[in-house]
Amino acid sequence: MAHRIAEYGLEGSYVSASEKDSPWVPFGDSAFIRHLAFDVRTNSFCNILWVKSGGQLGTHKHRGAVSAMTLEGSFRYLEYDWVARPGDFITELPGTAHTLVSDDPNGMKAVFWMNGTLEFYDDGGDLEQVFDVFWFIDHYVSYCEENNLPINQELFV
Ligand SMILES: [Fe+2]
Repeated sequence: MAHRIAEYGLEGSYVSASEKDSPWVPFGDSAFIRHLAFDVRTNSFCNILWVKSGGQLGTHKHRGAVSAMTLEGSFRYLEYDWVARPGDFITELPGTAHTLVSDDPNGMKAVFWMNGTLEFYDDGGDLEQVFDVFWFIDHYVSYCEENNLPINQELFV
């Protein structure tokens, strides 16, 4: 079996905490995303979301499973009664929709592993935007191109 793994297997990835490996990319007025992994085979993607105090992420619906852990600060969803603090683990399942806010004075940072798509709706309930792995790749690559930063191939797993 070892020779088959050697022939057909792929190595994993290593992305250090340094911004050289993956920068904080602005996401709206009060948030940043630090991209960690893009898997185009499964339409899954991993990143750290940083929302500054008072920031909000629009109401979105999931079409795949999400797991997340809070790293710093705290955040909550308008639709739920819990607050996610450092070390807290969360899952979000297909079909659920919610609105992320951080009222913490320190904002929030959490790592999210997402599958499928996130659908954003406007106030009238019309579909406004769909985020999938290619949206996240474009978010990262466009920022690198605009700022003359190298594209880190380790992010493409
Ligand atoms: Fe979500």
